[in-house]
Amino acid sequence: MSGLLENKYQELVTLGRIDYDPAQLVALQQLQKLQDQLLAHAEYKQKLTLRKWRSPPTCRSLYIFGEVGRGKSMLMDLFYETCPIEKKRRVHFHAFMLEIHNFVHQWHQQHDSDAMSALAQHIIQTQQLLCLDEFHVTDIADAMLIVRLFGKLINLGLTVVTTSNYHPNELYRGGLQRELFLPFIKLLQENTDTIYLSGNKDYRCSQQSAVNTRFYFPLNEHASEFAQQHCQQLTNYAPMHAITLQVLGRDLVLSAACEKISMISFEELCVQALGPSDYLAIASQFKTVILTGIPRLNSELRNEAKRFITLIDALYEYKVQLICTAAVPLDQLCDTDDVIDFARTHSRLLEMQSARYV
Ligand SMILES: Nc1ncnc2c1ncn2[C@@H]1O[C@H](COP(=O)(O)OP(=O)(O)O)[C@@H](O)[C@H]1O
Ligand SMILES: [Mg+2]
Repeated sequence: MSGLLENKYQELVTLGRIDYDPAQLVALQQLQKLQDQLLAHAEYKQKLTLRKWRSPPTCRSLYIFGEVGRGKSMLMDLFYETCPIEKKRRVHFHAFMLEIHNFVHQWHQQHDSDAMSALAQHIIQTQQLLCLDEFHVTDIADAMLIVRLFGKLINLGLTVVTTSNYHPNELYRGGLQRELFLPFIKLLQENTDTIYLSGNKDYRCSQQSAVNTRFYFPLNEHASEFAQQHCQQLTNYAPMHAITLQVLGRDLVLSAACEKISMISFEELCVQALGPSDYLAIASQFKTVILTGIPRLNSELRNEAKRFITLIDALYEYKVQLICTAAVPLDQLCDTDDVIDFARTHSRLLEMQSARYV
């Protein structure tokens, strides 16, 4: 091992912070190769002599996919941290999409011209490398924005490193008007190297030396006592009150909060039609969320389950501590195959109870 990323990985193994995992090596090597190319590119830009004789080194984008808990995000984060270039950005896919929607909205209030070209120009001026965690597409509006924006970004020479639970061919599978999304899949396949992280170990499951007391079931008379006790301990018996968060110019009222702690019911968060922007606002506002009354998620609760998945993604991304009361144990929480992506949520909920996460 020799590059910055590979050295960092080795160092963490030596310190006993992570396990040496042969299944991660291919991805590690590819990421290292890209890191070296990015460095060569930076050097090329600085040295006039190089520019005279050679064309710029290519920095091919990478798309890393695989099952949950295999270390995709960890490797990408290590890559990002150790990558010594200035114009770089790492962002969760939900947050990125939200920014795009906001940009388009604001742009069209002031201009008639194409918002995507303006956004692509803005991105390329501030970033040479974009690391996008958890790429997945579930609705047509996102799908259309992605097709248009990424076509431009790749043409402008942005290098993108993406993690996803899906092979490119599986993206937006079964989605409305999927044929309009297919050009993006073609673009991905022509312009990025795809890496399958094939390990058969879900590290999250193995971290389950969990503090099981953070997930209480069933929803009997002790459940609310459990939630109250955690709440009182965390707030030192300070009273909870309703709080209003501003989300994209709207008011989001939550019934019980105290400083960085909130106690919110499943009903309040996932039965009402809230969306990613609301969940991100909550995740960035609180250090601990006590989420009460999670029902067993069956096919009748598909929309609620979808929101729950987005909520957990946001809380996880912001490393929010989560305490729950639920109708059933965690491994029985989702009762149907109709809810895609629940494997990730299950894996995350497990990790969120582990000693390491806490
Ligand atoms: N080689 C490893 N040794 C120990 N823990 C690891 C290793 N790879 C990943 N992990 C841990 O496993 C958990 C899941 O990894 P993550 O990168 O989030 O998975 P994915 O993005 O593939 O779902 C994280 O807490 C991560 O730090
Ligand atoms: Mg991940």
